[in-house]
Amino acid sequence: MDKIVITGGKALRGTVQISGAKNSALPILASTILGGEECTITNVPRVVDVVTMGRLLGILGASVRHEGNRAVIRAEVIKSTQAPYELVKTMRASVLVLGPLLARWGQATVSLPGGCAIGSRPVNMHLAGLAKLGAEVSVEHGYIHAKAKRLKGASIYCDVPTVTGTENLMMAASLAQGTTVIENAAKEPEIVDLADFLTKRGARIAGAGTDIISIEGVRELRGSDHEVIPDRIEAGTYLIAGAITRGSVTVDRCRPDHLEPLVAKLREAGIAVRVEKESVQLDATKSGRLRGVDVRTLPFPGFPTDMQAQMAALMSVAGGTSVITETVFESRFMHVEELKRMGADIRVEGNRLVITGRDRLTGAPVMASDLRASAGLILAGLAAEGTTEVLRVYHLDRGYEGIEEKLRGLGAVIERCKA
Ligand code: EPU
Repeated sequence: MDKIVITGGKALRGTVQISGAKNSALPILASTILGGEECTITNVPRVVDVVTMGRLLGILGASVRHEGNRAVIRAEVIKSTQAPYELVKTMRASVLVLGPLLARWGQATVSLPGGCAIGSRPVNMHLAGLAKLGAEVSVEHGYIHAKAKRLKGASIYCDVPTVTGTENLMMAASLAQGTTVIENAAKEPEIVDLADFLTKRGARIAGAGTDIISIEGVRELRGSDHEVIPDRIEAGTYLIAGAITRGSVTVDRCRPDHLEPLVAKLREAGIAVRVEKESVQLDATKSGRLRGVDVRTLPFPGFPTDMQAQMAALMSVAGGTSVITETVFESRFMHVEELKRMGADIRVEGNRLVITGRDRLTGAPVMASDLRASAGLILAGLAAEGTTEVLRVYHLDRGYEGIEEKLRGLGAVIERCKA
């Protein structure tokens, strides 16, 4: 098992190129099996979750070719309609094949994802939505079983906006008979990216990016090419790397409009941020002590829960007290005890973190517990005095393409070694 060793205290400087969004690539890859023609997806990040999705599509019978950042998929025939526990337990996003399998092949058996480090994460709304579309849905022996001759359009209201739930329903409804309306749909940019891809293939979708999406089902989808949007969470993580080390970092090839909630908070903290068409430049070299700011995670366009751990690391070295309220997942605070080992002053009060900024953090061995918690610990290590060892970095490899190389490119002293 690998660990990452960081010698902190160096101000990062330079430009980093942002990769394609993991959380866009995953549903887009899953959706390729909605039709039999070849699809070529570009700007696919080379991260472990993408490899896992490729393996899953392969098990189902699709031919999958990865060529660098391009994936070529063709799902003319299907060998299996089952997503096994062995894969789903390593990646919850495997549940994204449920809608496409059911819509195209009339049946799907997908292992029920278990609990995970950030909360209980049920999939009840995915299942209730598919049942509304006319599927027979049951859960037995740890597996979701869904069956339907042909799905029928329906009106679906989501109790809370769910990202992968909206994606599953949008994919399933694309091949249903008649019109589906999803109300209180998730509005994340990744939903819009999936809708754009499906539309290129002949799907009829209106309203993606708003909270009401309507989908008029079609008989079949054709093949198409598509370029995945830039990863807003990766871009945000590198912006905080610049901020926490008092450096000056430009994130290039990103979508600044997807970064607005973070940019607003960085400015409020006293950091100079300039937004260009496809890049964001951050300069914290002359900022003095950062101001502590309060943050509340919310569905898009609110502040993303996937940036909460990174923001907690930044606030650990800001001036005064800041309060971070997590409203999306109930227990996404696994990074807190590790940040405390590095000297952070954080109190957990229910779903809130009360952070009193310290002048400095000190390097320590710490353990990563999930993808974004790992990113938070790496950021803290970049700012801390001395050496930080981040153990269990396989979490990080699930979602950040070439993170050590990118950070080294900005001047960080970071290496990967065997734990
Ligand atoms: N929820 C339900 N029932 C459902 C589905 C969701 O109660 O059937 C609740 C969840 O428990 C949670 C809230 O709804 O409280 C929102 O969860 P959502 O379903 O939106 O999360 P997700 O689709 O499982 C995606 C991302 C996550 C990201 C969340 C929130 C992918 C593959 N995953 O998860 O990304 O945190 O949306 O934005 O898109 C990550 O990349 O590190 C990551 C965890």
